[in-house]
Amino acid sequence: MEKLLIHKSGPLQGTVAIHGAKNAALPIVAACLLGDEPSIIENVPQVTDVLLMSEILRHLGATVDFSGDRLTVSPNGYAGTVAPYELVSRMRASICVLGPLLARQGKAQVSMPGGCVIGPRPVDLHLKGLQAMGATFSIEHGYIVGTANELRGAKIHLGGSFGSSVLATTNVMSAAAIADGVTVIEHAACEPEVVDLANFLIAMGARIEGHGSPVIRIEGVERLHGVRYRIIPDRIEAGTWMTATAILGGDLTIEGALADHLGAVIDKLCETTMAIDKLNGSLRVRRSRDPIRAVDVTTLPFPGFPTDLQAPMMALMARARGVSVLTERVYPERFMHIAELNRMGASITREGTSAIVKGVDRLSGAPVTAPDLRASAALVLAGLTAENQTEVGGVEHLDRGYQDFENELVRLGADIRRITAEERPDAALAFNVERDTGEER
Ligand code: UD1
Repeated sequence: MEKLLIHKSGPLQGTVAIHGAKNAALPIVAACLLGDEPSIIENVPQVTDVLLMSEILRHLGATVDFSGDRLTVSPNGYAGTVAPYELVSRMRASICVLGPLLARQGKAQVSMPGGCVIGPRPVDLHLKGLQAMGATFSIEHGYIVGTANELRGAKIHLGGSFGSSVLATTNVMSAAAIADGVTVIEHAACEPEVVDLANFLIAMGARIEGHGSPVIRIEGVERLHGVRYRIIPDRIEAGTWMTATAILGGDLTIEGALADHLGAVIDKLCETTMAIDKLNGSLRVRRSRDPIRAVDVTTLPFPGFPTDLQAPMMALMARARGVSVLTERVYPERFMHIAELNRMGASITREGTSAIVKGVDRLSGAPVTAPDLRASAALVLAGLTAENQTEVGGVEHLDRGYQDFENELVRLGADIRRITAEERPDAALAFNVERDTGEER
């Protein structure tokens, strides 16, 4: 069991380089299963979600080599069709293999992803899209069992109750790339990671138009070849560093941050009084004036404010001057971090799909536990602005999506250190006391 020990730090001065986008890497690595030849993916972040996806591909029979930021997938005529519970239960995005497996093998058995702390996570849109192309599904023993003798192009509307679905769009687009005929996806997700997958498939020989818009047209081709492809920079990692600078103050140049992918985030942070300069291939972020001004934020599909930055934004608003309302339109239940931030002295109440955040002058360090990936970053940022020591548990969530986050913080002067229970003589006792509180984590 690892924890992060954090003390008040800042300002952040210097430069940080953004890694490749995890959420682009996952569907792209899965889509390597569509090719006849090895593909080399560059700028792949070394995070546990990507390692898990590599494990799934190996389990299916592909050869995966991951060294540095380069990941090579050799499909080798893989024959597997099963993505097992042990792997899928650790990462919902394992569902990315469903479309490629059905298209290539005519069969797929993917463990049904359960709900998670950010709320129910249905897969109806994935199934609806692939069914329209001729696949049939049943749920057996906790697995989605899909078969498709032949996938045919179709016109598919992929809008759901909460808007478009990123991974349903990537699954259908991947399958359609080698299906028979033309597929048109309406209400497609427009996220940059969807565009990156489309560009990867096009490099492999696919015929795709309209990616980045709500209507994508895919004309199926006979085969896809291997390619060398470079993943886009991670806009959520960049947004986290921007928020970190807003919370801790300073002057940070974020190399690789693409302004076009961060429009809503730049807009909101500028409203809080941050100064943001668009440089060539990077963003310079400065906290121009004290204090940070409270702003209202509503999460929406791209190009709206990303749900993945709602928790870091809440940590910022917890210290802002005034009251802000953060509204979730993508995951209405994604508020587990409220209770943890309140343990540190924040003043946040939930009303339906909104959080009402009254900014406070100080946070006080406390033992807290990260409930999910992006909440882990929010708690680290809150800890860096809190009095005394903060202990953040659940750091395995941080490792799922942020490469070198704490090392980079240390390099920029922050006081943050990873410990295991064994490293501290009083640790076992301290951890047991926490468990005895009976609080829900
Ligand atoms: C992806 C991202 C995740 C991000 C999310 C929203 C990856 C690996 N993960 O997740 O970081 O938070 O987009 O930007 O790329 N929904 C349905 N039916 C479905 C699928 C989704 O109702 O079949 C709902 C979801 O419950 C949610 C909304 O649609 O309310 C958006 O989810 P979706 O875009 O599918 O999220 P993911 O693609 O799983």
